[in-house]
Amino acid sequence: MNKINTHKSDLIDELKEQSIYKIKLKALLEKIYIDSPPLAYIHSFGCQQNISDAEKIKGFLAEIGYGFTDIQDDSDLIIYNTCAVRENAEARVYGNIGELKHLKAAKENLVIGICGCMAQQQSVADKIKSTYPQVDMVFGTFVFHKLPEMLYNVLAERIRVFDLKEDNHEILEGLSTVREDKIKAYVPVMYGCNNFCTYCIVPYVRGRERSRKPDEIIKEVTQLVKDGYKEITLLGQNVNSYSYGFSGLLRSVNEISGNFRIRFVSSHPKDATKELIDTIIECEKICKHLHLPFQAGSNRILNQMNRKYTIEDYYDIIDYARGKKSDFSFSSDIIVGFPGETFEEFLQTVEVIKKVKFDNLYTFVYSKRSGTKAENLPDNIPQAEKGKWLRELILIQREVVTENFKRFLNKTVTVLVEGEGKTDSTYLTGKNDENIIVEFKGHHSLIGEFVNVKITKIKNWALFGEIINN
Ligand code: 5AD
Ligand code: SF4
Repeated sequence: MNKINTHKSDLIDELKEQSIYKIKLKALLEKIYIDSPPLAYIHSFGCQQNISDAEKIKGFLAEIGYGFTDIQDDSDLIIYNTCAVRENAEARVYGNIGELKHLKAAKENLVIGICGCMAQQQSVADKIKSTYPQVDMVFGTFVFHKLPEMLYNVLAERIRVFDLKEDNHEILEGLSTVREDKIKAYVPVMYGCNNFCTYCIVPYVRGRERSRKPDEIIKEVTQLVKDGYKEITLLGQNVNSYSYGFSGLLRSVNEISGNFRIRFVSSHPKDATKELIDTIIECEKICKHLHLPFQAGSNRILNQMNRKYTIEDYYDIIDYARGKKSDFSFSSDIIVGFPGETFEEFLQTVEVIKKVKFDNLYTFVYSKRSGTKAENLPDNIPQAEKGKWLRELILIQREVVTENFKRFLNKTVTVLVEGEGKTDSTYLTGKNDENIIVEFKGHHSLIGEFVNVKITKIKNWALFGEIINN
């Protein structure tokens, strides 16, 4: 069981306080913005969890009376919801913050906030405090519910707010959410991570694991399906350690009536059980695809990463799934150039790719994160060399995918239509069960529907085909 640091009464008090701030802030905004409501621009970097958090932030803002815009220059409130997983994500945020200086100078009441994983780090908050005076609010991943107070302090008191309070409090349920998408919905099932992989900053910025109660999740998914959502993705840093049992949760979600499909991310191989594979195979709404990051092919490196499985354990899961369903689809995350990784060890990663034949890979060059254990490991491979390894790996994966996707030729796949084709607007685009992009000619009225597509061509990591019997 995971440990929850519960301060229920503190939380109730905090929420009461926030509702008072909400009233004060609303009145203040009505005075400042007489003709039309203020507009907020929220930009999320990084993973699906961040997109989901941004939907909650928008929920708070909508309750206060904000409208939303996609045009940064038109907005009265800019929030960057940041990612800290790799250094280049952080560099991009600093670049964007720098560019806001002129906008801030030109607009008297513009409020700029930086939140999320990057903002949760004290060193980042300190840097923003001293170097970027245009930023009014810096807040981490635990205090979204305090937005009314933070905004009030910035707008009424004209003070800068820095709130990195780390509070593994009970999960706030029943928050309003403004969702980006009308077809696909993210539903967090747990927050935080207890694993402390030695390269990873996540446990430091998102705290310990906390699971939502199954009935809250079922209630939310049931409503989403009633609202017409066709794809539900259950979210967590490691959904397999969901403390009320993940397979059971999947089975309950599968029982919700309606025409929708279920995905989930992310899974940790050390917790991915045969029971999980059986559940995926037995539940008709769950996509027969598992995102199972193996990170590296060498057991020495896996040990250094503190991943707690061997590559043989990993193959066991793959073999079990493919033994039950030969075309069971896998995707993975890979880190190239972990400190001390040799070229021979990198080749072991390549071997896994060739053996498992993933339908999709998310590949990264190792990025040193301050405060993690790997930070202090000796690292003598030059960055340029690691870049070369990564490019080599991507080339090999391209060959694997081209070969792999041949299994779909002349077969009919079910596609959830997401929108217009990227290059040709007479085409529609969507994903099949295996999460592979499928493009085909079709009418716009099909957006948001499941259709059957017969695959005729493979091109550039995608499938092309023709709609049948729709
Ligand atoms: N450097 C490079 N990649 C990283 N990831 C996490 N931390 C780092 C890091 N320091 C990758 C892992 C993880 C994915 C979400 O990001 O592959 O699975
Ligand atoms: Fe990071 Fe490992 Fe936790 Fe994933 S399981 S969030 S890689 S520490």
